[in-house]
Amino acid sequence: MNRVFIKTYGCQMNERDSEAVAALLRARGYRIVQDESACDVMLLNTCSVRDMAEQKAIGKAANVAARKKRNPRFVLGILGCMAQNRGAALLDALPDVDLIVGTQKFHQVPDYLDNLRAAQEAGAPIGSTIVDIAEEAGSQNTIRDHVLEEKQVTAFVSIQQGCNMDCAFCIVPKTRGDERSRPMDEIVRECEELADRGVREITLLGQIVTSYGRRDYVHTAGVTPFVQLLERVNAIPGLRRIRFTSPHPRGFKDDLIQAYGRLEKLCEYVHLPMQSGSDRILRAMNRPYTRERYRQIVDDLRRVRPDMYFSTDIIVGFPGETEEDFAQTRELFEACNYDMAYVFKYSIRSGTPAAGLADQVPETVKEERNQILLRILEANSARRNATLLGTTQEVLVEGPDKKGRGFMGRTRGNRIVHFDAAERLIGELVPVKITRASTAVLYGSLALAGVGC
Ligand code: 5AD
Repeated sequence: MNRVFIKTYGCQMNERDSEAVAALLRARGYRIVQDESACDVMLLNTCSVRDMAEQKAIGKAANVAARKKRNPRFVLGILGCMAQNRGAALLDALPDVDLIVGTQKFHQVPDYLDNLRAAQEAGAPIGSTIVDIAEEAGSQNTIRDHVLEEKQVTAFVSIQQGCNMDCAFCIVPKTRGDERSRPMDEIVRECEELADRGVREITLLGQIVTSYGRRDYVHTAGVTPFVQLLERVNAIPGLRRIRFTSPHPRGFKDDLIQAYGRLEKLCEYVHLPMQSGSDRILRAMNRPYTRERYRQIVDDLRRVRPDMYFSTDIIVGFPGETEEDFAQTRELFEACNYDMAYVFKYSIRSGTPAAGLADQVPETVKEERNQILLRILEANSARRNATLLGTTQEVLVEGPDKKGRGFMGRTRGNRIVHFDAAERLIGELVPVKITRASTAVLYGSLALAGVGC
């Protein structure tokens, strides 16, 4: 009765939280299984950023609840952002849920599962739900244990939780709480341990990583705590690449821009959420920058690293977005020449400042704007990939491709490459000559005599 299946919705932070919960559960004697039909406990780690994400998890939970009818001892838990956002109210729609655990209480999951099991064994009435969505000082420090697969080459490290920016559209300040950073020494130690265990690439995670440590550490000679952390991770022997997500454009001061020129492990890839290219809408979103400033950051980064790769987040159809506003977004989107982008149709999140705004944009208009940006992105991405044909790229070999297309790895610019390799090259940086390119994926062959299969 100890097989746990965890399903994760949403962002990398959620994936990382699920991994930490899995590590804690394993240490407590639970087994983490990949087959959901063969579990005794199902945990859904949820996302609230758009209504669709919540509906997906609710639909899944409602489906799974049927299993409880067949097996009353089956345990269903809802964790993370939607648990935090809706709390016990989830029970109105999902009366059979056993466990509702918010974003500051992941580390309590093993205790709560133990308690549920003990209560079942003691013959407690079925249907008493544990709900814990309280805040907890220091909870950001509890996401630190890893479950590494054999030969795992990349890992996420959580450096900070929460966000205080109050973007008008965003539920995250409610679901993740106030900005709290982990101590720099602990993060560095975690990265060192991961490097010792064979990890070669680390992605530092937080809701607003560029604000890392701003209340806990002083700037030294104009260098922010976030860049100080990058410097320290850059110095870890064995690590080869560093990435981070998500930053805020306001964090791209000179120290961070220059870091791309001097920290050799910091990959020339950045996810830089633009949200809108209209100054009017940016103001309404409470995003403290202009389109001109945003463009300046992109240009500055390209000046330091001409081969920089960019991705972004855009929201189309924010309340009041006119054709003219969207034209501005479209123009800036084209000018920035993104390699990758996530385009979202604005979704009303109750409790956020924008939820009550008049002038909601019709779904059909949002869809149209969405499609326009996706078409631009596809063309940009295909064009960028085509320029890589015939070049040799440094690729970190991650492992066999899950769909059987040989091995897979990524370039420093975060492009996925498929190629033939050998097991022993997993974790190595190898030169791969790019021979074929589709919109999203590159194909190539090892370009070094002596390292072939
Ligand atoms: N509607 C649509 N997209 C949203 N995002 C955040 N809130 C909303 C919302 N209410 C998008 C933003 C953010 C990304 C993680 O999700 O673009 O950067």
